[in-house]
Amino acid sequence: MPVLRDAELATAFDHAARSYDTLVAANPGYHTHLRRSARRLGLPGGGPVPRVLDLGCGTGASTAALAAALPGADITAVDASAGMLRRAARRHWPVPVRFVQAPVERLAAAGVRGPFDAVFAAYLLRNTADPDAVLAHAYRLLAPGGRLAVHEYALSGRAAHRAVWTAVCGGFVLPVATLLGDGPLYRHLWRSVVSFDTAGELARRVERAGFERVRVLPLPGWQTGITHTVVARRPFADGGEAGR
Ligand SMILES: C[S@@+](CC[C@H](N)C(=O)[O-])C[C@H]1O[C@@H](n2cnc3c(N)ncnc32)[C@H](O)[C@@H]1O
Repeated sequence: MPVLRDAELATAFDHAARSYDTLVAANPGYHTHLRRSARRLGLPGGGPVPRVLDLGCGTGASTAALAAALPGADITAVDASAGMLRRAARRHWPVPVRFVQAPVERLAAAGVRGPFDAVFAAYLLRNTADPDAVLAHAYRLLAPGGRLAVHEYALSGRAAHRAVWTAVCGGFVLPVATLLGDGPLYRHLWRSVVSFDTAGELARRVERAGFERVRVLPLPGWQTGITHTVVARRPFADGGEAGR
């Protein structure tokens, strides 16, 4: 099942940037769910200003969720699409946010250095050519004990949830996106979800990357069994980074 990758995907997001916020606003729960996942990072309060990395920040919806859940955080937000980032940078930010245009696979070359206290990846991982490599980068950029939250369309594995996903995409998302000239990106959305990990598989992938305390948490509404948060922690002592 062909999906878009790398430069082709960034170009598709550049084009879709102008209507992205309108489309996600029509998705009930989109912003609430992002804020819930951001809170699920469970960063302990009261310490020094937490450094947080938002991978695949897009137009800033996930960054805004982080800013709301972690007031006072110092956020670095990365995206490969110049068009999406331009929109993000135009918003008013109540906390310091540094926006970086780079593929998440090449963060060091873009000057993004850890350690971070938390990494958030919302609707990113399934879009990448090598999700294991992205998780390995996230692991290395986290401080020992640092938190990871992957917020993703990762199906439960039950046929009913896959059918809802297909009905929503076919009945609403694709017709609207096609009218807007963004059919290829939203066909990619449907395909990338049905060909990506189930929520359980995603959790196992996160575990294989070396994370501990991996948990899959549901999200409510029509996204029940469709969207999940996978939360995890980099161990305090992991014997170095061998094998990652
Ligand atoms: C579906 S959007 C999600 C945006 C935002 N996180 C949100 O919650 O609304 C996915 C974003 O990931 C970015 N992206 C996809 N693959 C990427 C990669 N390999 N490196 C950097 N950004 C990437 C896209 O450009 C796009 O802006």
